[in-house]
Amino acid sequence: MSTTFQLDTATSRANPTPAPMKRLTVPAIRQRKVGGATAEPVVVLTAYTARQAQLLDAHCDVLLVGDSLGQVIYGLPSSVPVTLEMMAAHGAAVVRGSYHSVVVVDMPFGSYEGSPEQAFASAARLLKETGCAAIKLEGGEAMAPTVEFLVSRGIPVMGHVGLTPQAVNVLGGYNARGRSKAEAAKIVADAKALDDAGAFAIVIEGVVEPIAIEVTRAVGCPTIGIGASAQCDGQVLVTEDMLGMFDRVPRFVKRYEAIAEVISGAAEKYAGEVRARIFPGIEQTYQPK
Ligand code: KIV
Repeated sequence: MSTTFQLDTATSRANPTPAPMKRLTVPAIRQRKVGGATAEPVVVLTAYTARQAQLLDAHCDVLLVGDSLGQVIYGLPSSVPVTLEMMAAHGAAVVRGSYHSVVVVDMPFGSYEGSPEQAFASAARLLKETGCAAIKLEGGEAMAPTVEFLVSRGIPVMGHVGLTPQAVNVLGGYNARGRSKAEAAKIVADAKALDDAGAFAIVIEGVVEPIAIEVTRAVGCPTIGIGASAQCDGQVLVTEDMLGMFDRVPRFVKRYEAIAEVISGAAEKYAGEVRARIFPGIEQTYQPK
């Protein structure tokens, strides 16, 4: 199947729709888990650009426009400097490049923690400017009133517990969480609070496996694991990690490709041909008729 869709530039809404097909919905994702069991795991990958979304869309249930784009796209040292403007621009691109998956956009650090009202203003902006279906925010019990505030006002929320990268300055690094009894109990309590507040799914990141399993059993909504457990109700990876874009491979990443080598090899070949005046050839140049 070709994944290069015709963009309908005749209308202001350049939304590629190669086949009549309804986009998955937030309630459909939430309803994957029935009576504590999820027959069909929720498939999630990150996406930051329209073309990436086009390639991933048919294979995923959810495309997450993660604030990991700070490091992956912008070369920032963490997700802390990521802005609402960045998330809005990339979120809109991913919505334009997809027609099947639920698009969830991360709320960046500083755009929601101040108050439920601040969170509503930021989330409403993301929904209006991107066309995404939901937002994701980090934090547990402390964020539960905000989650309830947003959900009751029409904004679906995906939660995020365990290793919460926006809190790197408090956590002191990106090590797995839940190794002590107190930390484990806190993660379970955080997830339960988000579930009770109405989150439709919860990302569990960087948590020792028994705690990820305990959380998955304790909450009614699907859990989406990353560095967690195969027993979570779904899985997410940063697409560039699973494609092999980076030299560093964290323990929880499985590389399904070695794309860095492919790109570097193509660039090397191109550079050689330019220097040898082989490129452009006759096929790539315009000749008089
Ligand atoms: O920002 C991100 O990409 C994320 C995922 C890793 C869950 O939050």
